[in-house]
Amino acid sequence: MNKELRKAVIAGNWKMNKTPDEAKVLIEEIIPLVKDASCDVVVCVPYVDLCTAVAATKDTNIAVGAENCHWETSGAFTGEISPSMLTAMGVEYVIIGHSERRTYFGETDVTVNKRVCAALKEGLKVILCVGEYLEQREQGVTAELVAMQTKIALQGVAKEDLKHIIIAYEPVWAIGTGCTATAEQANEVCACIRKTLGNLYCEACANGVTIQYGGSMNAKNAAELLAQPDVDGGLIGGASLKAPDFAAIVAATQ
Ligand code: PGA
Repeated sequence: MNKELRKAVIAGNWKMNKTPDEAKVLIEEIIPLVKDASCDVVVCVPYVDLCTAVAATKDTNIAVGAENCHWETSGAFTGEISPSMLTAMGVEYVIIGHSERRTYFGETDVTVNKRVCAALKEGLKVILCVGEYLEQREQGVTAELVAMQTKIALQGVAKEDLKHIIIAYEPVWAIGTGCTATAEQANEVCACIRKTLGNLYCEACANGVTIQYGGSMNAKNAAELLAQPDVDGGLIGGASLKAPDFAAIVAATQ
């Protein structure tokens, strides 16, 4: 259902893993394994690996992303990196609002929105993460919660900019736990997000947005998850650090 309107995107989220030398080795391992991919392939890497990753992926079908960015262009923000610093390096994507940023680093829906707007303004493609804690799922508020996160994150984002937005539905209880959402659970929430986008913009706009699932996606469960009508790709943590596993997930989009 409308899946053909969207590009499948598989993105690795390396989190705080790999030195530049290790990043080069891993990317060189991934390149031949994904060269015939029918989906878009992205590796989101730590800031210190970006330069190496951009050089190593030159003339390949792999794009490079950062794992966060600040909303200001420059200034007194010790330890932060601006969107224009990323584009100046040849970075194309940025993850914003990952649950680890929200949980451990004080990220809120409002700061997520500021980062999304700043990244879009600079021409970056945004992978916007939303998702519920286990407690919230048990309270039955998952749909409302992800709708709220999506709405606030996209405040001020114009319809024309939606094509630069990917939304990653990542249930927090599934991240790094090995406890993957069932294909039905993943699809149900991805469909809720699409409905929210339809209400905010228009149905045709919503049908064009790539919505990924993330949370313990691996070489074994990827095909079933990716076959769901509203799941258009994956944001992959642990399994993206092993080239054969990441390549198997990329192949599972076919
Ligand atoms: P995981 O992480 O695949 O290790 O569960 C996903 C993510 O946090 O993006």
